[in-house]
Amino acid sequence: MKPSISLIGAGAAGSALLIALMRKGYPVAAISSRTLESARKCAQLVGATNASTDNASACAAGVIVVIATPDGMIQPVCDKIAAGGGFHPGQLVLHLSGACGSGALAAAAGQGADTCAMHPIQTLAAPLEGARLLETAWYCLEGEDRGVARARRLAERLSGRALTIDKSDKALYHAALCVASNYLVVLEKMAVEMLAQAGIDRRDALPALLPLIRGAADNLAACGLPDALTGPISRGDAATVTQHLHAMNDSCSDYVPVYRSLGRLALMLAEEKGKMEPGSAARLRDMLKTRD
Ligand SMILES: NC(=O)c1ccc[n+]([C@@H]2O[C@H](COP(=O)([O-])OP(=O)(O)OC[C@H]3O[C@@H](n4cnc5c(N)ncnc54)[C@H](OP(=O)(O)O)[C@@H]3O)[C@@H](O)[C@H]2O)c1
Repeated sequence: MKPSISLIGAGAAGSALLIALMRKGYPVAAISSRTLESARKCAQLVGATNASTDNASACAAGVIVVIATPDGMIQPVCDKIAAGGGFHPGQLVLHLSGACGSGALAAAAGQGADTCAMHPIQTLAAPLEGARLLETAWYCLEGEDRGVARARRLAERLSGRALTIDKSDKALYHAALCVASNYLVVLEKMAVEMLAQAGIDRRDALPALLPLIRGAADNLAACGLPDALTGPISRGDAATVTQHLHAMNDSCSDYVPVYRSLGRLALMLAEEKGKMEPGSAARLRDMLKTRD
């Protein structure tokens, strides 16, 4: 029999993880959230009946407790449960934040529970779609040895993919994920605006980009870095990059510094591929320099 799960904070990430765990055979002990509405909505998705706003009772009911509140609420929620003597030895208490350390669960550890920060490396916007994405997600674990070992077993059952990280490296780790995911979204917003400036109907812009974005992700999966890089910089095509910069200076000059910065990183990647002629690299480097 697998250990039962209590969820505290029935939002996007917590609900997705609970569904994923339920599908792997973990029984749901209890769900609590700030509002009864969220707890009930999540309970309906996993076929559970024990939904409430009583964090302490929900916590007491489960062997594995997942605190999936917003980052700033993890420690206060954990402290409040502990103040009522809500944790006990044998429990595994997890939170899902990538930025916050496992120290936010110190009050649970103080009552003998094993603790670990178990961050799903995935973007989770809705429970069911999130649960599907979690089938292939990696998890990054940080905490004390027993908590990490137990969380690793859980991650292995979910997707078989776990990393561990030192507390001191978490900020850089989280910044990297922000670049990989959030800034990708920002770049697509930039591309949509540029397409609109180029006369493409705004409604068509993002749909037209999506297959391209998926193609780039597929190339990354198939070829890795640096070989997945394509495009004019990868080909050493300085004439095309000059045209880009002229067009952007005319229509969307605010984006030029971003284009130049990313272009310089693209040039480094292109040089790593090893097919760039030295003359082309020098011309590109010059035109991609920061301008005042
Ligand atoms: N979403 C992602 O892509 C993602 C990915 C990886 C990790 N995470 C991590 O997962 C955690 C949750 O993020 P999220 O995106 O799921 O946020 P979210 O959708 O805003 O959900 C947070 C939930 O916490 C509940 N909550 C707030 N205060 C509470 C309290 N005092 N007691 C009980 N429940 C409380 C809220 O309840 P109500 O709905 O009832 O107001 C809400 O359902 C964060 O640590 C985040 O860093 C998120």
